[in-house]
Amino acid sequence: MNLNTENPSTLKAWKKLQAHFEATHQTTLQELFAADSTRAEKFNIQWNDFLVDFSKNKITKETLDLLLDLANEVDLKSAIAAYFGGALINKTENRAVLHTALRAEDNAVIMADGKNVMPEVIAVKNKIKQFTHEVVSGIRKGYSGLPFTDVVNIGIGGSDLGPDMAVEALQFYKNHLTTHFVSNVDGDHVNEVIKKLNPETTLFVIVSKTFTTQETLTNAITIKDWFLKSAQPEDIAKHFVAVSTNIEKVTAYGIDPENIFPMWDWVGGRFSLWSAVGLSISLAVGFEHYNNLLKGAQEMDEHFKSAAFDQNIPVILALLSIWYNNFYGAESEALIPYTQYLKKLAPYLQQATMESNGKSVGRDGKPVDYQTGTIIWGEPGTNSQHAFFQLIHQGTKLIPTDFIGFVHSLYGNKDHHDKLMSNFFAQTEALLNGKTENQVLAEFKKQELSAKKAAFLLPFKVFTGNKPTNTILIQKLSPKTLGALIAMYEHKIFVQGIIWNIFSYDQWGVELGKQLANSILEEIESGVVKNHDSSTELLLNYFIKNS
Ligand code: F6P
Repeated sequence: MNLNTENPSTLKAWKKLQAHFEATHQTTLQELFAADSTRAEKFNIQWNDFLVDFSKNKITKETLDLLLDLANEVDLKSAIAAYFGGALINKTENRAVLHTALRAEDNAVIMADGKNVMPEVIAVKNKIKQFTHEVVSGIRKGYSGLPFTDVVNIGIGGSDLGPDMAVEALQFYKNHLTTHFVSNVDGDHVNEVIKKLNPETTLFVIVSKTFTTQETLTNAITIKDWFLKSAQPEDIAKHFVAVSTNIEKVTAYGIDPENIFPMWDWVGGRFSLWSAVGLSISLAVGFEHYNNLLKGAQEMDEHFKSAAFDQNIPVILALLSIWYNNFYGAESEALIPYTQYLKKLAPYLQQATMESNGKSVGRDGKPVDYQTGTIIWGEPGTNSQHAFFQLIHQGTKLIPTDFIGFVHSLYGNKDHHDKLMSNFFAQTEALLNGKTENQVLAEFKKQELSAKKAAFLLPFKVFTGNKPTNTILIQKLSPKTLGALIAMYEHKIFVQGIIWNIFSYDQWGVELGKQLANSILEEIESGVVKNHDSSTELLLNYFIKNS
């Protein structure tokens, strides 16, 4: 099935949303809450361990109905069926988008290119399970007969961000192995990691879907050279494994075919942690926890496929984001997890969101005349409260923000957790209500401030509030809830791409920089600079002369 190619801004629902925006955008969140004491009951979804409260948004029932009309007008239901059913929705690369198959139940039948992919998916999962068991238990040993103590994931982009984020997020569930990540082609990065390692007890996982990525191959070669200073070439088979679709290139690098974990071209890099790209997650927390991560995602997939759109978490989050992005003109969204474990969630979702929906050509091949991909950023609370929250509260920009919090902490320190969560609730309330002139004046009165000082300070101390937030409150951070949370954002990205009429699963924009870097490298190596603009030429000549 082909996805539709209609410019969304020409659709009936979009036009109605535009008129609705003109008529209602002056209404504040405070007014919406004052007008309806049951508002929160109407705008929340409870699903499994999740409570998603989206009542603190600039919407009414009519807004939501119009947004849902938009989802129906683009035929989101059929698009979801095409996505899960293995249709070639990544049309510019002629590929299906089936990361959901990697977490599907074993008895599912999922077809890509006329073939059920599940037997291969299950076989690779079993290979991950067996390998994890052997490494974690110490059955599999390094060249000197010692069990492994460290695992190094060598990859970049989707071959790094997902495993790195998940290993960090699941630290509480971690075993004795220490996991490291080498991604940047910056040689200082790899050297900082190497200096902590003992070659005898370190396992290297080279992750590259294409096995052509400059950064990963350069790091892999540097690491292999370092390893061979202590070990023999035949020891490589014990210490190096690879995850890739490019079996030929992996073998040429010297990896034992037994140590190759295959993946498929229908898995996009930024959605690949569910494949063998997640091997270092499985090694870090054990296969059972890794499998629960997949299970959580699978449950979110079921919810996304089957829930009515008005009760569908990814659909609602996507529609709200479109409401702000396309009608209010918001440019970015913040993402604030109230747990230090999720400190890498924002960078992970930056790739997932911005590489997917950072597009300006519609599926009809024409430039779009409306805004697409949102900018994602964030840091954990409460740290971020002491960093950039000032701008969210009192700056000039509208920044819709997702607050992600957990009912239970993992170590159960109630004092800390209650303090953390009181900040979590206080922030969304403050962003909603702000602080009125009268409230500020009452405070001044208590402080017995002089009239002159009070008059001067008043405008600075008033908060307008009226800042939209979603609150995503989850029982506990576990492999399963993490899996569901990631899948929730993946499907949000999908819905937005469908509505924006863009291809979310290619990334041609990343290619130009890669091509240019390769030709500039030749010039740096030869010292001959040619055919550049005068700025690039000046910079290159300076670098060559001084390096
Ligand atoms: O950043 C571009 C990109 O192609 C990503 O989509 C991908 O995750 C990353 O590079 C790494 O690619 P590979 O896994 O092929 O090394």
